[in-house]
Amino acid sequence: MRKITILNGPNLNMLGIREPGVYGKESLAAIELLVRKRAEELNISVSFFQTNHEGEMIDRIHSSYGNDDGIIINPGAWTHYSYAIRDALSAVSLPVVEVHLSNIHKREAFRHVSVVAPIAVGQIAGFGALGYVLALDAIAGQVPSGDSKA
Ligand code: DQA
Repeated sequence: MRKITILNGPNLNMLGIREPGVYGKESLAAIELLVRKRAEELNISVSFFQTNHEGEMIDRIHSSYGNDDGIIINPGAWTHYSYAIRDALSAVSLPVVEVHLSNIHKREAFRHVSVVAPIAVGQIAGFGALGYVLALDAIAGQVPSGDSKA
């Protein structure tokens, strides 16, 4: 079975509480349920990880090497400046889909830049929680079902 890891960076544990007008009312746990439902339909195994610590995220990305078939990541604010997260994603040579709940391109100028986007297959932004489900559909198309590691 194909294995996809879904990673969430800093402050995304606060979803539901944090600026609901921008990020929506769903908690990260509610988003996980949505994604798990779609994953079942697609016959994909998913694992979720959230951290507020950059080094922990880098270690988690490295652990996908040889274990996962693709990575969906919402890097939060790291999106805009963390070359270390970008390099970690490059290092493991897996298809990456970048997700943002908000449309970062119509917000403050500092959010218009993503240092992760150039190494991602694509970016989904502005569709709230649905973006994670769309990302799963998108990455499923990048990883043929015959490519299983499990
Ligand atoms: C975000 C957008 C980022 O600019 C912000 O720092 C976040 C969340 C989003 O999902 O819209 O933490 O990645």
